[in-house]
Amino acid sequence: MSLSHLSLKCFRNIEALTLEPVNGVNIIYGENGSGKTSLLEAIYYLSHGKSFRTPKHKSIIAHQQEQFVIHGRKKIHDLSIPIGISKTQTGETNLKIQGKASRKISELAQLMPVQIITPESYSLFFGGPKERRKFLDLGLFHVEHEFFFLWQSFNKVLKQRNALLKTKPKNYFDQIKFWDKEFVRLAEEINKLRLAYISRFKQQFFDKMCAELTLVRDLEMTFNAGWKETESLADALEQNFERDARQGFTSKGPHKADFSFSVAGNSVENTFSRGQLKLLLYALKVTQNSLIESETDKQSILLIDDLPSELGEDTKEKVGQLLAHCSSQIFISSILSESISAVVEPMQRELQMFHVKHGNLITR
Ligand SMILES: Nc1ncnc2c1ncn2[C@@H]1O[C@H](COP(=O)(O)OP(=O)(O)OP(=O)(O)O)[C@@H](O)[C@H]1O
Ligand SMILES: [Mg+2]
Repeated sequence: MSLSHLSLKCFRNIEALTLEPVNGVNIIYGENGSGKTSLLEAIYYLSHGKSFRTPKHKSIIAHQQEQFVIHGRKKIHDLSIPIGISKTQTGETNLKIQGKASRKISELAQLMPVQIITPESYSLFFGGPKERRKFLDLGLFHVEHEFFFLWQSFNKVLKQRNALLKTKPKNYFDQIKFWDKEFVRLAEEINKLRLAYISRFKQQFFDKMCAELTLVRDLEMTFNAGWKETESLADALEQNFERDARQGFTSKGPHKADFSFSVAGNSVENTFSRGQLKLLLYALKVTQNSLIESETDKQSILLIDDLPSELGEDTKEKVGQLLAHCSSQIFISSILSESISAVVEPMQRELQMFHVKHGNLITR
């Protein structure tokens, strides 16, 4: 279930480009500004319907052009499924799956689990909980059929609740009481799925990745549901009602969930070196991909932007050993093709090099 074909039009500095990736490791190399990150960005866009670099579609469309077009072919067994997305200057999106127009990015996303690691990704440990929730929920989206529907339904109720807390109509207390039954029901369903996922995640992470990560000694992963484990969500909502009404939003619930890592009781972000944090991040992403691959019939894609940056030779080798734990299709960008041999060797996968120059593929 790999991406067997990719073609781009008017995407950043890429005027027109066609790529036939292998179901193994694809190395995209070239000078600064040649278009490496843009290529990875396009693959990410094809799955997520958005960029990891910017929310502004206009900065992605090649200058002075009307629209960008990304077209791919996903190989599933003997089938080759064409998928495509385009976006115009005015913001109009066109999605196509197997020749049919679709309006749902989620249909595209279902076909292709794509994760990215950039040199900045380790900020996952420093930033707010939103990115960490997004990380977990990406896994849940792929392995649990009901998750997406539950999450959408919950968000509708949350929006209602917050609107009532903000505008405070005459009988808003009674209305909120009424909505809270559904709020709690959906929240508990979501939490149940998340708890089960975290438990399988931890098992995979600590059992399989440990050997590669000498740093996991004393490492602990803690999940926070978004309300105290020791109390029911219904009680938490009631206790926080006044505060929520004052602030105009709901402070407890699965929309506040988070996870964290600690070493001997200290938060990992204040203990690990940057290189160690990066390695931990690789382990998280690989764990997620290998879970998706073992629990569904999907093959994931892992995009790694600018791999050698700040990683020592030892760490690169460990990254390679970690990557050997998933059967994802891998795309790695790098300025020099040689600098990643330490990463690629332990993986023992089919390898293909692509040299990018000024937005074009150089064929030798
Ligand atoms: N909308 C756009 N239209 C045309 N060119 C663009 C657009 N957006 C960015 N560029 C240019 O595209 C080029 C490729 O950028 P990209 O970030 O993909 O390079 P890169 O190969 O990843 O470089 P680096 O090694 O520095 O990370 C850059 O020169 C950039 O200025
Ligand atoms: Mg780049």
